[in-house]
Amino acid sequence: MVNSLKIAPSILSADFAKLGEEVRAIDTGGCDYVHVDVMDGHFVPNLTIGPGVVAAIRPHTQKILDVHLMISPVDPYLEAFAKAGSDIITVHAEAGPHLDRSLQAIRELGKRAGVALNPSTSEATIQYVLDKVDLVLVMTVNPGFGGQKFLESQVDKIRRVRQMIGDRPIDLEVDGGIDVNSAATVVQAGANVLVAGNAVFSAADYTQRIKEIRAAC
Ligand code: DX5
Ligand code: ZN
Repeated sequence: MVNSLKIAPSILSADFAKLGEEVRAIDTGGCDYVHVDVMDGHFVPNLTIGPGVVAAIRPHTQKILDVHLMISPVDPYLEAFAKAGSDIITVHAEAGPHLDRSLQAIRELGKRAGVALNPSTSEATIQYVLDKVDLVLVMTVNPGFGGQKFLESQVDKIRRVRQMIGDRPIDLEVDGGIDVNSAATVVQAGANVLVAGNAVFSAADYTQRIKEIRAAC
């Protein structure tokens, strides 16, 4: 249900040597989405995974695979990520000049379309594409790495995006530095999907930590 609170652990902080097992652990631990961070060493200063890894984890969970593409150009790779089994494909508003076309392409592939905003990008950028998106992702750190500090400056943007969304069936996701402390702040501002990498995977018990984040909201 859109607008209900959803927890999306980011596997960027998982143990890559046993990714299938890690995905199953957050699945049985009660996550709603499995957040997958794709980085290209060009749009962001880090390299992570490609569609082959998305396809490899797909059989390990029935939960929504929430694929965050931090890559530029992005259009040439949308089909590969769709075929790999992504449910939501999110592209950055800054990744190319034709955001409208990228979002349309994702929906034509039968997937839910998301748009992400870097901390320095204004919410005005997405004003004219709101009818083509199923999810807006507000970055609360500069993308590239897990375990960074939450940027308070983004709370106002979350509030504004929630107002812009109005009664449209669009998820408002936040990503970066979310833990039991920042979770309540972003939910109060209007977020309903919380990405949490370090906060979940640094815990000895993922189930307990997911519950704690939920309870904090
Ligand atoms: C950052 C990624 C995030 C990151 C979040 O570029 O998009 O999804 O893994 O990690 P934490 O929750 O540790 O800040
Ligand atoms: Zn992410």
